[in-house]
Amino acid sequence: MYQYTEFDRHFVRARAVQFRDQLRRHLDGELPDDDFRALRLQNGWYVQRHAPMLRVAVPYGELSSRQLHQLARIAREFDRDYGHFTTRQNLQFNWIPLDRAADVMDLLADVDMHGIQTSGNCIRNITTDALAGIAPDEVVDPRPYAEILRQWSTLHPEFAFLPRKFKIAISGAREDRAAIGWHDIGLQLVKRTRGAGQAPGPIAESLETPRSGASPVGNDHGEIGFKVLAGGGMGRTPMVGSVIGEFVPWQQILVYIEAIVRVYNRLGRRDNLYKARIKILVKAEGLAFVDAVNAEFRKILEHDHEGVAHLIPQAELDRVTRSFELPAGLDAQRAPKPDPAPLTLPVAYRRWLERNVHAHRLPAYRAVTLSLKRAGHAPGDATGDQMDRAAELATRFSHGELRVTHEQNLLLPWVREDELQALWLAAREAGFATPNIGLLTDMIACPGGDFCALANARSIPVAAAITERFEDLDRLYDIGDIDLHLSGCINSCGHHHSGHIGILGVDKDGAEWYQITLAGSDGSTLSGAAVPGKVIGPSFAAEEVPDVVEAVVETYRRERRPGERLIDTSRRLGPLPFRAAADAVRRATAAAAA
Ligand code: HEM
Ligand code: SF4
Repeated sequence: MYQYTEFDRHFVRARAVQFRDQLRRHLDGELPDDDFRALRLQNGWYVQRHAPMLRVAVPYGELSSRQLHQLARIAREFDRDYGHFTTRQNLQFNWIPLDRAADVMDLLADVDMHGIQTSGNCIRNITTDALAGIAPDEVVDPRPYAEILRQWSTLHPEFAFLPRKFKIAISGAREDRAAIGWHDIGLQLVKRTRGAGQAPGPIAESLETPRSGASPVGNDHGEIGFKVLAGGGMGRTPMVGSVIGEFVPWQQILVYIEAIVRVYNRLGRRDNLYKARIKILVKAEGLAFVDAVNAEFRKILEHDHEGVAHLIPQAELDRVTRSFELPAGLDAQRAPKPDPAPLTLPVAYRRWLERNVHAHRLPAYRAVTLSLKRAGHAPGDATGDQMDRAAELATRFSHGELRVTHEQNLLLPWVREDELQALWLAAREAGFATPNIGLLTDMIACPGGDFCALANARSIPVAAAITERFEDLDRLYDIGDIDLHLSGCINSCGHHHSGHIGILGVDKDGAEWYQITLAGSDGSTLSGAAVPGKVIGPSFAAEEVPDVVEAVVETYRRERRPGERLIDTSRRLGPLPFRAAADAVRRATAAAAA
């Protein structure tokens, strides 16, 4: 994990002190609501339906046991004993009274955490693959670059008030597990061999050699750079990012992103909230946008002293990379030694091995997902006690490290293969061993109308009803891999557009209704190229939603060819048979339409 330097620590502490003073002045009546609003938002404090909501950044999803214990303490002592892990690898608290907010910021600072830039129209938490640094299909570990990007973007004076929020995701593996196409900027780390037949990068190649000199890590294996996508985003007009740079050398990536964000800052639609995201600009301008970025990029490199200073020096990459070397005490050379499991393994254990345990680049290790999708809890929620238990599991089995995943689960990155059984037993006892990773009940869901002031409809009860309907594990396994994503309104926090089955809460005459989409993709290998799902007919009532999901799933089971997942069958057949099946289960909405 990245180790905070004294500079980093001082920075976060100073911010907490500053916030305490701002809060005091607000509570004393010196700072009116409107003035305080901008200040609290810059530290992750929203005001939602019931109370202030705090969003804590978990940079690129990496958490230590110590940090998670502290989050558990905050949940217990300041909130109603739980927190919500989000798709963007953050954690949200829903019930902290504002007058205790400064104490919470101090506690966070004690463990190198904060809420800076988790809100507002700035560059938000940079996300990545939860298997970063450990995935067997990794080309380049994205974490050092994510950390450098984090440092560069934090309190960047030019980008504190962009036209709208700005989200960057970065992937270093062959498979995209970070949904990069759905972000304002998506970065794909690549390696290329000079003279191996690739066309030169359209932009970077023609520029002068970076000052930092020789190409970085692995000259012998290829030159490292980024494929850059821009203009992805969901909301009312879902758009997948376009490739605007085929190969930007790593040394220049901050300058290139600076150029993109400058163009966006200059030309983005500040006049219309719904058109303010970069996706609208990229779509409207097309190649002119790319030309503007390239021109800005050249200008910075050639003339702008400050920009030139943002070329990443090799020494800085090396310094940050050292933080991500293996955890102390981990033996990378350890020979694989399979779990000494008896042949009569319980079926629950085999299922857990199949779904929750993932391959690792080190042969003697595995990554293990702790499922936060279980009956009785909203997707992504964990109580204070559960956070403590997860932190203890990380200490005992994973060198004190965890990850928060895009799918709203926790993951232990460094588990020895011969300790899997012991981990399973402990995880089961703690309630984290539901063997459902990648299955229908491992759904993404936003907090919806129970908490969010912008919601059109509730998400949590709908998620609970679906979980209950698909409790039977035999059936769940027969249905197989499905991404089910649920948002309480068109802001799309629950990524419904990228769900194989997407559920969107809509408001009709003050009542909660739900629109269903089919065959969306986040860009993973299973799902194929990122694409928004297609709506299957008019909306449904809340109580109909589990029936509709079941009708869609049963249509798939009936129609599937050997080896086909729901996403394949729905693409082959198109929406019509699914729509017909969904319409057949209408009750309330059929009566309402009559
Ligand atoms: C309850 C408090 C929340 C509020 C008020 C809120 C508000 C919003 C709004 C207004 C947008 C749309 C921005 C735009 O397109 O201009 C948005 C986007 C987004 N939110 Fe939230 N959100 C909340 C919680 C969450 C949670 C819990 C998650 C994760 C589970 C989340 C993940 C996202 C993501 C991924 C997007 C980007 C969607 C896209 O690509 O367009 N948000 N949020
Ligand atoms: S999708 Fe809508 S309801 Fe859900 S958290 Fe986002 S803004 Fe709130």
